[in-house]
Parts: sequence; C-alpha cells; structure tokens
Amino acid sequence: MNDIFLRACRGEAVPYTPVWIMRQAGRYLKQYQKIRKKIDFLTLCKTPELAAEVTIQPVDALGVDAAILFSDILIPVEAMGMRLKFSEKKGPVLEYPIRDNASVNKLSASGLEKNLNFVMDTIKILRKELKDRVPLIGFAGAPFTMATYMIEGGTSRNFLHTTKMIFQTTDLYAALMDKVTQTVTEYLKAQIKAGAQAIQLFDTWAGILSPGDYKDYALPYVKEVIKTLKDWKGLKKIENVPIIYYVGECGGLLEEIKRGGADVIGIDWRTNIDDAIKRLGNNVSVQGNLDPCALFLPKEKIEERVKEILNRAVSARGHIFNLGHGILPETPVENVAAMVEMVHRFSRK
Ligand code: CP3
Repeated sequence: MNDIFLRACRGEAVPYTPVWIMRQAGRYLKQYQKIRKKIDFLTLCKTPELAAEVTIQPVDALGVDAAILFSDILIPVEAMGMRLKFSEKKGPVLEYPIRDNASVNKLSASGLEKNLNFVMDTIKILRKELKDRVPLIGFAGAPFTMATYMIEGGTSRNFLHTTKMIFQTTDLYAALMDKVTQTVTEYLKAQIKAGAQAIQLFDTWAGILSPGDYKDYALPYVKEVIKTLKDWKGLKKIENVPIIYYVGECGGLLEEIKRGGADVIGIDWRTNIDDAIKRLGNNVSVQGNLDPCALFLPKEKIEERVKEILNRAVSARGHIFNLGHGILPETPVENVAAMVEMVHRFSRK
C-alpha cells in the first residue's frame, strides 16, 4: 500500500510529500455530478455502495495519496435526533435549533454506532476496494463546530446564538457540549473499528473565537475527544491511527491548538506555513495550506505557489500537502490534477 500519507502524519521519512484535498469528492468532478443528478446528497451519504464509489472518484481522477470517507459532519447530528435537510441555496438546515434545556435533554448521545451503520458499512466496503492503494481517512466535526450548527440551525455569519449561549447560559452550553463530545468520540471509535486508518477533526468555525474563549469553550472538548481516543485500548491494537485537527482561520490560536494533542495540525492559507511550524514546534506534523482560489490561477502561477509552500514546510516534522480549506465547486479539474502532480514532482527526494 502507498502509506506515505500515514508516514508523514507520524513524522517518518517519506520519498515525496503526500497530498490530498479537503472536500476532494464533490461537485467540481463530473463523475460526482452524474451521480448527484439521480440522488440527493443525504441519500448518497446513506447508500454505502455509492458513497464508496464517490470516495474513490478523486483517487482515480487525481492520484491523491489518501481517500476521505464521503459523508458530512452533520450526519451524527441527525443521529442525535435533530431533523436535517440540505437545501441547494442555503446548505445544511437544522429545523429546530438548540436554544434551551428541553432541547438539549431530548438529544441522544448513545446508540450511534447502530444508527450510523451505513457509515461503518461504507468504510468496510472502502477498505476492501482500496486495499492496495491509499489509506482511508475517517472524520467528524470537532465539538465546537458541530455545536454551532446545532445552535444556529445552519451556517451563520456572526454566530450570535452560539456566543450568546456561551456568555449568557454557560451551563446550558456545557451540557450541550458534553453530549456532542460523547457523540463525536463514540462515532470516531466506531469508524476506527470499521477500518478508518486516520481521523480528521474539522473545527471550521473555531477561528471566530478569541484565543481566551477558544481555550475555555472549544479546546477542552477537542482535547477530551483526542485523549479518550489515544487512551482507548482498541486504538492501540489498531496501531497508531493518526489524528489530524483542522481549524479554519487558525492564525491567532496556534499556541492553544497545539495543546489539543493531535498528531497533525491543519493550517489555513492566511498564515504562512513556516510561521505555523515555528509556533507549533517539532512534536507535530502539519497539513496545508494552498488557498483554494489559487487553483483558478494559470498553471505557471500554481507551480510557483506549490513550490513556495513546499519550501516553507521543509523544516516540519512531517508535511502533508492540502488546501487551506475545502475545494470550491467551480474549480477546474485539470488544475487540481496538475497541482497533485507538481507536489509529487517538486518534493521527490
Ligand atoms: O472531504 C471530502 O470529500 C469528504 C466529504 C465531506 C463533505 N463535507 C461532503 C459534502 C466532508 C469531510 C465534509 C465536511 C463538512 N461539512 C464541513 C467541514 C469542512 C469544511 O468544509 O469546512 C462542514 C462545515 C460541513 C457542512 C456542510 N456540508 C456545508 C456547509 C455544506 C454546504 C456547502 C457546500 O459545500 O455545498 C455541505 C454539503 C456538502 N458536504 C457537499 C459535499 C460533497 C455538497 C453537497 C452536494 O452534492 O450538493
């Protein structure tokens, strides 16, 4: 198997820098659009054979060094008892947002593995189909980012309901976060048992918090998820499943993020990766950090930016090349394939 991605996560020597792309399965691929014409997004997530097929599409089309499970961070939120819809215009919508004790009490934090057996089935199919190719990354939303969707009812501009709950009803927020943290932990254990070979925690919105609030209201829950997984005997048996932690707009938070205990830290493009490496030290690997919009540049310009990031990241314990956030639906596929090839060629030792 091509395990270069896993080796870079652990900081071991690699023949070239591995690369994968956040949201690599999706609308910028014709093959994906073809399947989505026939089936809505949630049904696709819940149909293991098709979810496995779209997971493998970017591995075939681009030659990336890892596959990431096709699903969504809000799938376990639905399993906790919230009603989830995806609208073409607004993205995810949770109809009855969490604003009071009664709604937190109604949320279930157990029985997840059974409710989400379609995810575990997808993972099992993928491990069979990917056998000799690339490792499979499982994932979940980090507790804070999951909670923002549950409290806001969808994507938000200023996260007012979330910060109001944190500042005005701190106990309610803590009760919600305990349930979400338990859910995320159980969900990731189940993914690892089913065969996920690395895990990424997505904390897309944690960058809206000040360093002090991040430290008090987001970091403790991430730390708990990671510590529980690391102490778990099941994980030791499966031998070293690396944990990647991505925070959107992480620049102000790196010193705190480091204390979360992840093996790899994802960096967005607003911070130079060499600066991030200096601040994170040599106990972690880094992942990132090309601006997703840079894939709209002409190829010579993409080449310059790929080289720059590879050069800036030479001092890292390990580097996994990626975008600084998810790939955009309009991205030209030929530029993405060229970028993957450039990363491999320019970094080869
Ligand atoms: O990386 C991958 O290819 C794996 C699949 C994956 C999806 N969503 C598929 C998806 C992953 C890892 C996610 C994570 C996710 N989902 C995040 C964290 C990462 C990030 O991008 O910030 C968040 C915040 C979500 C919530 C979500 N899901 C939003 C806001 C949207 C709407 C916006 C959009 O991109 O369409 C989704 C829908 C979604 N998730 C799609 C896909 C392929 C598009 C659905 C479609 O086919 O119409």
